Amino acid sequence: MGNMATDIGLQPPRPSTIHIADPGADARSDREMILAAIDRVLCGGHYILGREVESFEKEWAEYLGASYCVGVASGTDALALALRASGVQPGDEVVTVSHTAVATIVAIEAIGAVPVFVDIDPRSRCMDPHLLREAITSRTRALVPVHIYGQPAAMEQILCVARQYQCFVIEDCAQAHGATIGDQKVGTFGDAAAFSFYPTKNLGAIGDAGAVVSNDAAIDARLRSLRQYGWHERYVSDQVGTNSRLDELQAAILRVKLGHLDRRNHMRRTIAAHYRTALASTGTVAPRDIPNTTHAMHLFVLESRMRDRLAGHLSEAGIATALHYPIPVHRQPAYVGRFAGADRLPVTEALYERLLTIPCHPDLTEEQVERICDRLRTWSEPTSQSNPWISSSHHRSV
Ligand SMILES: Cc1ncc(COP(=O)(O)O)c(C=O)c1O
Repeated sequence: MGNMATDIGLQPPRPSTIHIADPGADARSDREMILAAIDRVLCGGHYILGREVESFEKEWAEYLGASYCVGVASGTDALALALRASGVQPGDEVVTVSHTAVATIVAIEAIGAVPVFVDIDPRSRCMDPHLLREAITSRTRALVPVHIYGQPAAMEQILCVARQYQCFVIEDCAQAHGATIGDQKVGTFGDAAAFSFYPTKNLGAIGDAGAVVSNDAAIDARLRSLRQYGWHERYVSDQVGTNSRLDELQAAILRVKLGHLDRRNHMRRTIAAHYRTALASTGTVAPRDIPNTTHAMHLFVLESRMRDRLAGHLSEAGIATALHYPIPVHRQPAYVGRFAGADRLPVTEALYERLLTIPCHPDLTEEQVERICDRLRTWSEPTSQSNPWISSSHHRSV
């Protein structure tokens, strides 16, 4: 007997789509507190660099265990200003990864510095410290490790190389709010660190926002001046600055959301643990557990040799996927052929075509997580053989 719905031309209902992120969820669950914060700003009448920004800066520094925090307009500005405040000059080389959001490179170029690429470790997908020496030249002034997807980079080894070559280290923490190495939060290892509060980040505003944290009073003072026209006092500029101030409204909202960050990060990690179990016998590679680190699980990015087919398999069940990133920076039209190191990125080259992001945000319902796990369990692909990169780079000492 036929199915009556399809016999008369109706398709069975598709399951509702599970999205990669749900930035509006906080507005639903915390609506009253967010509206109260907005009202406080509105009625306070002090709209630029007022008490909300000051309080958020204090609370964010405290949360991280850093001495100083300066709120700025975006994560891209945070990185650019952190580089400048640390002493990076136009023409200096800054070693970073191509496996990152393009914003990392935008920030380096924004201050007239020159990006140089280094490859990533295939396990952490972050800067490979073993390769830094061949990327460093006499012009290298800073290293910018990116804690990609929320996985902390190998800071101890990176700092060791940085000390030897007298480079600054600016951490790109845009995806790693609350991630730790041991019991120390990322953002407190280098000379300074840049955070983005773009709405989909683990700590997200309802517009653009960012911050730089550091443990250095001189860097902090330069940042406070740089973000506001280079003023050292009102209307007196002693350096060329810009306008990149954290908005008072965004700061007020971030203060509300900061109260939930640890709980929501924990939820992300719990969801990730379900995915790891579901993937165990599928042949698909889940993000590796890197000892002594706590992943912020901003994104759950798996690795598949049949990535496009897996994306299709999930899409048929109404599960959205995304690519972070479809093209590594050194291959993007604006950057191709421009920076040193682009010809020695075999891991970046091989990995980006295999990576697939699946929804892992804390606003997923149990039913949605179960739906995703069920769908993953019905997937299978040949198990990858030996990983050609791991033996070559991972076990060498720095
Ligand atoms: C790794 C990384 N760096 C920097 C940025 C820039 O942050 P924003 O979008 O706030 O400028 C982002 C955000 O997209 C990012 O993911």
